[in-house]
Amino acid sequence: MSTDNLDQARSALREANAVTVLTGAGVSAESGLPTFRGPDGYWQGVSVMDLASPQGFLRNPNRVWEWYNLRRNALWQVRPNPAHHALAELERRVPTFGLITQNVDRLHQKAGSKQIVELHGTICMVRCTACHYEQDCPNVELPPEPRCPECSAWLRPGVVWFGEMLPFEAISKADQWTRRAEVFLVVGTSAVVTPAANLIYQAPDNGATVIEVNLDATEVSTAVDFSLRGKAGEILPQLLAIE
Ligand code: OAD
Repeated sequence: MSTDNLDQARSALREANAVTVLTGAGVSAESGLPTFRGPDGYWQGVSVMDLASPQGFLRNPNRVWEWYNLRRNALWQVRPNPAHHALAELERRVPTFGLITQNVDRLHQKAGSKQIVELHGTICMVRCTACHYEQDCPNVELPPEPRCPECSAWLRPGVVWFGEMLPFEAISKADQWTRRAEVFLVVGTSAVVTPAANLIYQAPDNGATVIEVNLDATEVSTAVDFSLRGKAGEILPQLLAIE
């Protein structure tokens, strides 16, 4: 990464009154959580459609819950890292701010971020597959076959699976926050899953400067204004000039 790039990106961020951030699994990597597509990622050696689709759940809910329960229980051991803290600090500095995350781990909230859209839901919540019951239940060990206390149907994780629509409220807020952004900051996502990735291409249409922070080049690196390579937990504090 050139110092020039970092300096110019830092100036753009400092001068912006409206900043929108899009994050992905790379932001939580330094907290110890795997990404999806990396060498040790969740999707290595498994069938995505078995674990993260309505059809996979119908076929084998026990298998799906085994995987989600492992992921839920892993959250108790992890803490927000400097990347999460830097984004919470950015929110305190910028008058108009929004954080759109694809992450389901709630680490942004733990770091103090408030204006958040959870585009893919969260594993800290469950909802019933038959009735309207839903429950926030972080830090609770769920049974292997979680059932609805109201109607006894299977509960499911409060996430968006492949083949499902994003919640309307979430995508419309993400869209609105993208349109108003003067700087659009993309952190730790491979930018291959739509509609989240589409927001990155939409942002410049409304005049935003787009800054990417990622360990590696991604699908969008050549389309953004500044592509900063490195760990989010190191680059973001530098970008915000946090001592
Ligand atoms: P991916 O695993 O696809 O991408 C993670 C990105 O983070 C990669 O581009 C890495 O280079 C980058 N990365 C890893 N460590 C980093 C670090 N310390 N600092 C900065 N960057 C780092 O994860 P997502 O893009 O979040 O959806 O995946 C998007 C969606 O695909 C997920 O929400 C999930 C998945 O399937 C669903 O389950 C619906």
